Amino acid sequence: MSPFLAFIGISILGTWGLASMGLIAGGIFLLVDPEDVITASDPTVGGIVLIVIGVVSMAAMGPVLLPLLGIDPPFPVSARKIVPASRLSRWAKAGQLREFPDGTPKEVRVLSQRVLIIREGDSVRAMSGLCSHARLPLGGIAMSPIKAEPVRDGCVMCPFHGARFEISTGKVLREPFDSQFNSEHPILGGLQKKLFGLGSKLPAPPGLGMSMKAETMQTYPCRIEDGNVMVGLPK
Ligand code: FES
Repeated sequence: MSPFLAFIGISILGTWGLASMGLIAGGIFLLVDPEDVITASDPTVGGIVLIVIGVVSMAAMGPVLLPLLGIDPPFPVSARKIVPASRLSRWAKAGQLREFPDGTPKEVRVLSQRVLIIREGDSVRAMSGLCSHARLPLGGIAMSPIKAEPVRDGCVMCPFHGARFEISTGKVLREPFDSQFNSEHPILGGLQKKLFGLGSKLPAPPGLGMSMKAETMQTYPCRIEDGNVMVGLPK
């Protein structure tokens, strides 16, 4: 992203955040000190309305901010339906082969889709960039300690809760919160297992419940043309 675009984005989000906080602060002021304000309507109602608008405005920043940070909002939690290989015939360039590290997955956007490219020598495979467990990026988060894990035994491992997926088929070979992962990552593993366990017990609209399980990942066909990695996406 160019520094100019980053500056514009940060300015807009900063103004948005400040405006939201201003609404909440104004609402609190109306509730705490209604005598001091001259309004045409009841200051208590006005205060509540301002706070509600401020909170809703703050909450709406999430879906805008998270993708900018490389994190898709974690809803829907359920993975998308698997598209059969016969419909993966829209070939698009993912990048040059030499841009992909050997043995460590890397996420790229191909036709605006998040795709994980897994290169091993001259062979390349691809799967969805978002883990089927909580739809967090399998390639980790840039400039954070959560990074893509090297390929091991033909599997990629989600760096968030340790689910392992077979590269060739996308099948789940290890569920999230495996005891070994939990003991090595107490916060991402053991602690979050408790939170996910709690979340799965709360009433939630169908399809939005938190799940402890991962599902088979979407894989995509790949080929190399003139040093470029081509990926077959849904038509
Ligand atoms: S998001 Fe991948 S294992 Fe939880």
